[in-house]
Amino acid sequence: MSKTRPNESDASDLSMHPLLLSVNVDHIATLRQARGTTYPEPAAAAALAEEAGAHGITVHLRSDRRHIQDDDVRRLATSTIGKLNLEMAATEEMLEIATQLRPHQVTLVPERPEEVTTEGGLDLVEGQEHIRAAAERLTAEGIAVSVFLDPDPRQVEALGSFRPSLVPGFEINTDAYTRAVDHMVDIEINKIIAVATQGAAAGFRVFAGHGLTTSNVGRIAAVPELEELNIGHWIVCRASLVGMPQSVQEMLAAMRAGRD
Ligand code: PXP
Repeated sequence: MSKTRPNESDASDLSMHPLLLSVNVDHIATLRQARGTTYPEPAAAAALAEEAGAHGITVHLRSDRRHIQDDDVRRLATSTIGKLNLEMAATEEMLEIATQLRPHQVTLVPERPEEVTTEGGLDLVEGQEHIRAAAERLTAEGIAVSVFLDPDPRQVEALGSFRPSLVPGFEINTDAYTRAVDHMVDIEINKIIAVATQGAAAGFRVFAGHGLTTSNVGRIAAVPELEELNIGHWIVCRASLVGMPQSVQEMLAAMRAGRD
């Protein structure tokens, strides 16, 4: 089947501003690694997600290789039609891999071996020299750089010392919002709105993700500064019941409903 690269017009029905969906297929690899089989393949899931309307694909190559493997990234680097976003720690090993495989974008994340999933954003206030060095290396290879930050205005202020030509965008960690209950939901969404406004005003592109589901994505989709959401666990879980195309379409519909 011939495929066309998704473009801005695909996203234009999502709102006055396009809001793109990057589907994280890490947990397709989790299923495969659980049994040491060759299936299911993240690249096959990614193709189905893109066919269903996803605008890009995200994978996190962890240093412990618990789910995504180097070969998965290699395959996705040639098969992904939209943007391939590689999440990774700013280590020498990962920088070597990224500069060889040249995804469209790298999102730099902190990584702790014992964590179940990424537990928080980078700390640019405490130290940013190794992030700056990594961003310079990636940018020199033509790879766009994003950094994963908690919705903390001090982190976005620290990001301001990077030029948008070096780090064009950042991803807001939505984890606390997705876990919040009662009055904390408003508190957490307001933090996200504040840093999205702050970051966009400083000239950065603003992305968001972590823990998003069709039930909680609406208020995030309503934040007009946001350009792209990175969503994995929910989409893969739902895909295990109804298939990847329907799962992606349900998420796109929930995003559209929140944006309208
Ligand atoms: N963004 C970042 C930086 C992540 O590490 C993850 C999890 O891999 C996600 C987004 C997606 O989170 P979830 O799988 O909960 O949708």
